Amino acid sequence: MKTETESRPLPNGFELTELNPDFLRDPHPVLDRLRQEAPRHIHRHAHFPDAPTGLYLTRMDDVRAILSDATYQRDPRSTPPGSLARAFAPASVMIDGPHGNLLYLDGAQHRRVRSVMSRAFTPRSIQAKRAEIEALAAEMLARLAEKPEFDFIAEYAAPFPIYVIARMLGLPDEDMAQFRQWSEDLIFVFNPLRTPDQDAHQKAAFAGLEDYFARAIEARRNQPTDDLLSGIVHGEADAGGKLIDNEISTLLLLLLLAGNLTTADVFGNGLLALLEHPEEWAALKSDPSLSAIAPEEFLRFGPPVAIAARYVPEDREILGCPVKHGAAVVLSLIGANRDPETFDDPHAFRIRRGRRDHVAFGGGVHACPGAPLARLEIEVTLNLLARHYPALRLTAPATRDRPTLGFVGLSRLMIALN
Ligand code: HEM
Repeated sequence: MKTETESRPLPNGFELTELNPDFLRDPHPVLDRLRQEAPRHIHRHAHFPDAPTGLYLTRMDDVRAILSDATYQRDPRSTPPGSLARAFAPASVMIDGPHGNLLYLDGAQHRRVRSVMSRAFTPRSIQAKRAEIEALAAEMLARLAEKPEFDFIAEYAAPFPIYVIARMLGLPDEDMAQFRQWSEDLIFVFNPLRTPDQDAHQKAAFAGLEDYFARAIEARRNQPTDDLLSGIVHGEADAGGKLIDNEISTLLLLLLLAGNLTTADVFGNGLLALLEHPEEWAALKSDPSLSAIAPEEFLRFGPPVAIAARYVPEDREILGCPVKHGAAVVLSLIGANRDPETFDDPHAFRIRRGRRDHVAFGGGVHACPGAPLARLEIEVTLNLLARHYPALRLTAPATRDRPTLGFVGLSRLMIALN
């Protein structure tokens, strides 16, 4: 006879996304259950009956095994009609010609764009910006400290990464307000429940940024400078040749889409965890040098990217399960980061853990190239908070009600610095 737990149906499809209010509030009870009862969960989407049945993986070892296998696909154009890859692909990546959206490219096409970006956007070029990033963070926090309370998400976590990447790209200060507005409006694209007004804003942001980037690319082509944008425009790909305009502007949009909401979310998730664990905040205040390793626990405990998806290149057996060509293998990054086989007491938040072997940044050929920048932004912020704002505290319960598919973050986090 089956126990009650065994007979409860396992969640599937959108139930395992932020469109499910319970999952949005706290996905871990469900992910823990899947990891224990069905770590290689047969995954179906009722809304996509033609899509081949896929897998939903929650164990760290399984997630790593798929991430490190470059034979899995990301390009929706290489999957058969009816696949989830096609259903979820942005229109801009379904074109016949080349596009520069690394997330949706495989093999040689991926290496071509990634090699140009990797040469321009190196850990060294990021570290070279440390003093500038510190100065920007200090200035923003000092201004916010004058307020009795403020929303950390809207006033720091969201704009700070936008300003940082804008400066790295070499955009002039006078364009910053407009650039910030567009960058923030882009994010509505991830919200399938966006209002008509938000939809209009996201469309206008894409159009505005494309036009803005077209002009900036042209200017750098005529007159190279020493910024990231020039590095991308003039960079040579591994196999030779330079990126064309469409590839460059898609890549730039991706830097904003992949870098801004993610960093903002990890700031929010991590700061909330820190303030909800007063002993951890006290430890950081008494030893601010812990800010060098604390970002790893922010990323492990509160990763902003919920899942990574890979598509199966031909009928094959995966981890003992037969799976069809074009099926989606969904890797739960938030689930893997709480795997008790990998992390001792995984639901505990401990800033001294210092474990870099989480999968918040994915892995394999698509591993996040922005990781050094995100780590640096979190580190300098924590260092400043610990040194200068010991009275930092929550002033209201945090709000987690944002149904952005695949991204886990707060919509509001009210705090006071003094
Ligand atoms: C805490 C912040 C961040 C997190 C947690 C994060 C997470 C991720 C993850 C999980 C992937 C891989 C997705 C997949 O394999 O399907 C990824 C890819 C990517 N990220 Fe990040 N990211 C962050 C910040 C950034 C920043 C700051 C930038 C750049 C400014 C950036 C640029 C990219 C790009 C371009 C890719 C695509 C790489 C490829 O497909 O080859 N990310 N990121």
